[in-house]
Amino acid sequence: MMFFDGLEADVEFGKTLQEREFTFQQGTVPLNHGSYGAVARRMQEVQRCFLTEMNAQPDLWFRDSVNKHWDESVRAAARFFNCDSQDIVFVTNATEGINAVLKCYDFKEGETILSTSLTYGAVALTCRDVAAQNRVIKSEVLEIRFPIESDEAVLRQYEEYLQNHPKTRIVVIDHITSPSAVLLPVKKLAKICHKHGALVLVDGAHAPGHVPLDLEDLCVDFYTGNFHKWLFTPRGCAVLYVNRKHHDWIKPLVTSHSADGSLGEQFRQAGTRDHVPFVCAKYALEFCDRIGGMDRIMSYCSELAAEAQEYLAQLFQTDKPALPRDMEAPNMKLVQLPEIYPPLRKEQFQDFFMDFWRKTNIQTVAFELQGKAYLRVSPCIYNYMEEYRLLGQSVLEYIKKLNNSQ
Ligand SMILES: Cc1ncc(COP(=O)(O)O)c(C=O)c1O
Repeated sequence: MMFFDGLEADVEFGKTLQEREFTFQQGTVPLNHGSYGAVARRMQEVQRCFLTEMNAQPDLWFRDSVNKHWDESVRAAARFFNCDSQDIVFVTNATEGINAVLKCYDFKEGETILSTSLTYGAVALTCRDVAAQNRVIKSEVLEIRFPIESDEAVLRQYEEYLQNHPKTRIVVIDHITSPSAVLLPVKKLAKICHKHGALVLVDGAHAPGHVPLDLEDLCVDFYTGNFHKWLFTPRGCAVLYVNRKHHDWIKPLVTSHSADGSLGEQFRQAGTRDHVPFVCAKYALEFCDRIGGMDRIMSYCSELAAEAQEYLAQLFQTDKPALPRDMEAPNMKLVQLPEIYPPLRKEQFQDFFMDFWRKTNIQTVAFELQGKAYLRVSPCIYNYMEEYRLLGQSVLEYIKKLNNSQ
C-alpha cells in the first residue's frame, strides 16, 4: 500500500499543503482545527482502502483481519505514547474514554469526583450524571480563574482542596483545557492527587500530536486522548490508557463476547461496529513521520498560533487571557473580541460564529469565558498567516456592521 508516496519530509506546510493534502471545499477558510480536526487526504485513502477490504469479505474482516490490524495499530499507539501495548485500547473518542472509567468505578458513600471550572462541558456533565446515578457520591468543581499566576498557584489550589476533602476518589484533569486553552501541569498534579489517595483520570482530548507525551513518565491511572484532532485520522479514533493496576475493573461501556478477556480483547470486541478509524491510527503516525515528524509539526503549529494571537490582539486592541506562557496550549490561543453591543449572551455565541462563517466563508469559533468574549485560534499544518489577517479584518468589519445595526 503506497499511501504516502511522493510525500517529502520537507513538504511545504501552509497553503501548498492545504491545497495538495487536504480536501476542504474551495473558498472555505478552515480556521477551527481545534473542534473537529481534519482528515488528511492520504488518511482518507487509507480509510477507503480498509472500508473496501471490510466490505469485500465481511466475515474475514470481523473474524480475523481486524484483529491483526487492531493489534498493529495498538502497538504503534503504545510506542507513540511510550507505554506497554497491553495497557492501551482504542475508543471512539475522549468522551467515551472518560465515561468508561467513571462508570466502572465502585464509589463508596460520601466519595467524590473532582473536576474544574475549565473542564470540557461534556465531561463535566458526565461527572454530574455519574454522581447523580450513584446517589451517594458527589461531583465537585475546583474553580480555576484567570488571571492564572503560575503552575505553582494551581498546584497549591489542588493541594489545599485535597487536604480538606480526603474523600476525593477520582480527579479528572484536562491536559489541555477547552475552550479555554490552558496546558495543565499533569505530572505534578498527579503526584499531589496520589499523595492524597485519589486516582488520576487525564482528559487529553487535545494532547496527542499537540504536546509531547510520555505515559510512563506521567504516572497517571488513566489517560484518554484523541487521534482525530491533531493526528489526522478519520473521526472516531481515540485511545484509553489504563494503568496495569486497574485492568481488573475497567470494562468497555458495551459488554460483548470478550467480556472475560483481557482489557484489549474486551475493548476490541464491543459489538459489531466500524473499526476502520482505529486501524488508521498506525498509518496516521506514519503520515506524521513522512511529513517531517512530530517536532516539525508541533513547531509549525505553535509558532503560527503565537503569531496569529499576537496579530489579532494588536488589531483588535484587546487582551489575551492572563496566564504564564508555559501554561498556554501551544497550538490553541485565545484573543478577546472587540466590544459587541449589546454583549452576546453565552447561548448566542454559536449563532454569532456560524453567521460570520455564512457571510465570510471563514470557519472560526468564539465563546464566553469568565464574563469575556473570546475568539480561539487553533492553527494546524495546513494554515498560514494570510488566513489570520483575513480573519482579523473580517471580524472587525463584521462586528462594526453588527454594532451599527443595533
Ligand atoms: C478537553 C476536552 N475533552 C473532551 C473533548 C471531547 O472530545 P470528543 O468529542 O472527541 O470526545 C474535547 C473536545 O474538544 C475537549 O476539548
